[in-house]
Amino acid sequence: MNILGINGGFRQGYQDVSAVLVRGGEVIAAVEEERLSRVKHSAGRLPYLSVLEVLRIGGLSINDIDAVAFHGSTWGSEIDQKVRDYFLHHFGYAPPLQKYHHHNCHATSAYYASGYNSALILTIDGSGDGVSLQVTTGQNGNINELARMNRPNSLGIFYSLFTQYCGFVKDCDEYKLMGLASYGNRHAFDFGWLVDFKDGQLWLNKRYVNCVPPKAPALHRDEMNFSKAFLQRMGSPRRLPTSTISEYYKDVAASGIKPFRRGSAEHAAPLCRPHGSKETLLGRWCGTQLCTQPAYN
Ligand SMILES: [Fe+2]
Repeated sequence: MNILGINGGFRQGYQDVSAVLVRGGEVIAAVEEERLSRVKHSAGRLPYLSVLEVLRIGGLSINDIDAVAFHGSTWGSEIDQKVRDYFLHHFGYAPPLQKYHHHNCHATSAYYASGYNSALILTIDGSGDGVSLQVTTGQNGNINELARMNRPNSLGIFYSLFTQYCGFVKDCDEYKLMGLASYGNRHAFDFGWLVDFKDGQLWLNKRYVNCVPPKAPALHRDEMNFSKAFLQRMGSPRRLPTSTISEYYKDVAASGIKPFRRGSAEHAAPLCRPHGSKETLLGRWCGTQLCTQPAYN
């Protein structure tokens, strides 16, 4: 069976456009659209060049594809026709479409590549299908979601907010904030007024965050994640991307890591604990930051 997995979407927030070809359960080729289009993230579109490339590597044509796998299981049926039309328009044939929940896609990509038979999987995202964090188990090749946290209570949104405030681009430059954090004083600021952890739950103070309603597309990377009240509370403007990085913004970056790590530990740990001592996998970029940042205490 030949499966074509695709990532992307018709809105600007859908990024890291890519295609992967799986044949008989084995990954044959995986290509990011940006490597061929030369446009970073290639946001706001479905894959085209990367689809052609994985088909070329696999020695297949689009007519050999048995199914297209796509995230966005909560997007509604209208997206099915759009994707179908897209494939007919570009490739002349539209294989059957299967949609999956965004976090299940992250969880399975971590689980199947791990080699573990039994695993506890933690995926943390800004938002995917309206969910910001999910705990999943992998067992004998099957996955089961156990718990979910919904946006806007999102560690990813929290982190993106500081990415923007420090003069970088959200959904793009979070790794720069990670690097900047190592130059600052992590005890300089206490952001308890922005994020709180109660009874194993994370709460973002909506007064300081520009939230979008449920089901609405996430904010564009050039829209402010933070409110005017946030700027007033900080007392200093957002750093302009072309300006020098002062000690102040280094300290903000470092101090923002503390609640991020604490939130991950305090929110996710109680969700994970009842499910035993399976190997634990981390999926998606927030998980990367947990692995690479120094301990907050
Ligand atoms: Fe994601």
